[in-house]
Amino acid sequence: MSAAAFWRSHACGELRATDEGTEVVLAGWVANRRDHGVVRFVDLRDRYGIIQLIADEDAPEAGMEGLTGLHPEDVLQVKGIVRMRVAGQRNSDRPTGEVEVLVHSVEKLSSAARLPFEIADHIDVPEEMLMRYRYLDMRRTPLQERMALRTKANHAFRTALIGEGFLEIETPMMTKSTPEGARDYLVPSRSRQGSWYALPQSPQLFKQLCMVGGMDKYFQIARCMRDEDLRADRQPEFTQLDMEMSFVDEEDIYGLVERAMAAVYQEVKGEELALPLERMPYEESIRRYASDKPDLRNPIEIVNLAQEGGQLSFALFDKVLQSGGWVRGIRVPGGAALSRKQIDSIEAAAKDAGAGGAAWCKVSEEGPTGPLSRFLQVAEGETPVDCPVKIGGLSEGGAALLKSLEAMPGDLVVTIADAPRRALVALDAIRRQAGDLMDLVQGPDRLLWITEFPLFEVNDDGAFHPAHHPFTCPVLEDIPALEAGGKEGIRSRAYDLVLNGVELGSGSVRIHERKLQETIFKAIGFAPEVAQERFAFLLEAFRYGAPPHAGFAIGLDRLYALLFNAKTIRDVIAFPKTATGSCPLTGAPSAVDETQLRELGIEQQIPATINEA
Ligand code: AMO
Repeated sequence: MSAAAFWRSHACGELRATDEGTEVVLAGWVANRRDHGVVRFVDLRDRYGIIQLIADEDAPEAGMEGLTGLHPEDVLQVKGIVRMRVAGQRNSDRPTGEVEVLVHSVEKLSSAARLPFEIADHIDVPEEMLMRYRYLDMRRTPLQERMALRTKANHAFRTALIGEGFLEIETPMMTKSTPEGARDYLVPSRSRQGSWYALPQSPQLFKQLCMVGGMDKYFQIARCMRDEDLRADRQPEFTQLDMEMSFVDEEDIYGLVERAMAAVYQEVKGEELALPLERMPYEESIRRYASDKPDLRNPIEIVNLAQEGGQLSFALFDKVLQSGGWVRGIRVPGGAALSRKQIDSIEAAAKDAGAGGAAWCKVSEEGPTGPLSRFLQVAEGETPVDCPVKIGGLSEGGAALLKSLEAMPGDLVVTIADAPRRALVALDAIRRQAGDLMDLVQGPDRLLWITEFPLFEVNDDGAFHPAHHPFTCPVLEDIPALEAGGKEGIRSRAYDLVLNGVELGSGSVRIHERKLQETIFKAIGFAPEVAQERFAFLLEAFRYGAPPHAGFAIGLDRLYALLFNAKTIRDVIAFPKTATGSCPLTGAPSAVDETQLRELGIEQQIPATINEA
């Protein structure tokens, strides 16, 4: 590190045997101290590491005194001389472990009060406490390392994109609502009382305007704010690597994102990413994995049992099939070895996902056992039917069902029969749970593109809304069906990037023609006036020559949590919020002064119950 002459000549962590005899000025925090009367030790820590300070009979009195009466985390400036540690007292676990600094003088720059928790790598402290004292948590190695990795990864992305001619453009934080589907965080205007800015859910519309503005290649490491129900991999405020390009199609975006991801893998993990990445159309992903973000490390696949299920004497399957539901299942290789409790946890996963339950059986050579088995077994007096592998006592339907699943003795079979939406979520849940229980989720990272998402999704009220956002272009061959009023099955030119079962990013080829845009607005039930009111500026911009364009955004917090092996996205964010969207450090969100509200022309109407709580 460069010598900031006054405060320090070296960083604590950079001293080595080659510095023996050097006079140094160090500054840092007291990490540890031991006082043996005639010899005093202090470990001094900064971001770059820890160095042992020593005062013994060779040290001047000022050195001895300086290392007296210190408290953990006091901040010191220390002058002294680097010397080799006595043989036998060297610490090979520490890069500075061969040397120590014989202290000549100490200046205490700041005293530390009694700490709420120890600053050590392995401590058992509730997360909320760590967040409340995030600046102390930051002194510990895990956050220091993750912030350094984050810097490295951001830098690699920047270098890769700037190297390809991208411009880094900042877009407004106070703006008009963007169409990413969550609620907006609103900011009241003082000068125009009654008017509100929205914090951006993403820079979507501005990056499209940059394309109309001829910027050609845009990127930004962008903060996004969304008021939505929080989940483990969601924060109300998060960061995207946001990109947009003109005169391109899907292939250009795939190539760009893949090169940028490869640069980051190389930089952060020292690994060569095998390109091109795998691709899978949405329809196939749902069919095989009951998910649009499948973890391909888990080998379990979903099997459609509609045919075979209908042949069983299982009224529930019949009923579900007749009402347009799904009967699908999974084979868990070797799953017959699972305990009842473990199998119960698979069933519980299905129920938690909203399904009525899951019917299962263990498969053995003698025949199936477990709740589903009696529907697979041959009736008394009938001849059992052979399965390709030897599984005894099966009815025709039972043999067909196990055959479809390619079940073998030793496997567990789990089936879900439910309405399609519920079945989908439950199948995904049981696949994940079974994969975890059997320790099947292994091997290298699996990155893949999911392509050809549907243009529309149906919500719980049966209404269609854009699956991505309303500026996403339909697949060209589906446009006639769309123009004829079709919605279901219309594919879009939207794509997601998925890593180990996590949606890392999304993007699409955009609509740049007004007419098609109007068709889409109509299809999602936006009256022309509503579309005009919300997106007038974009629609107007499109009147003045809009280039065909496409883009993508990577959720950096999610990506970094996976790349750095962090448990949650909170672990890779310097100042994250809790699952309820609050900040234990600052106390946000919090009440504001009446005066502030009055200036903004806002009157609060808070139910008495909230005030009492
Ligand atoms: P989308 O809404 O899919 O697309 O967001 C892109 C990526 O951002 C991440 N992400 C989040 N990360 C943490 N907390 C959240 N609350 C959160 N919400 C989203 C995810 C997601 O895949 N404008 C479009 C992109 C485009 O079309 O170019 C957009 O924002 O990793």
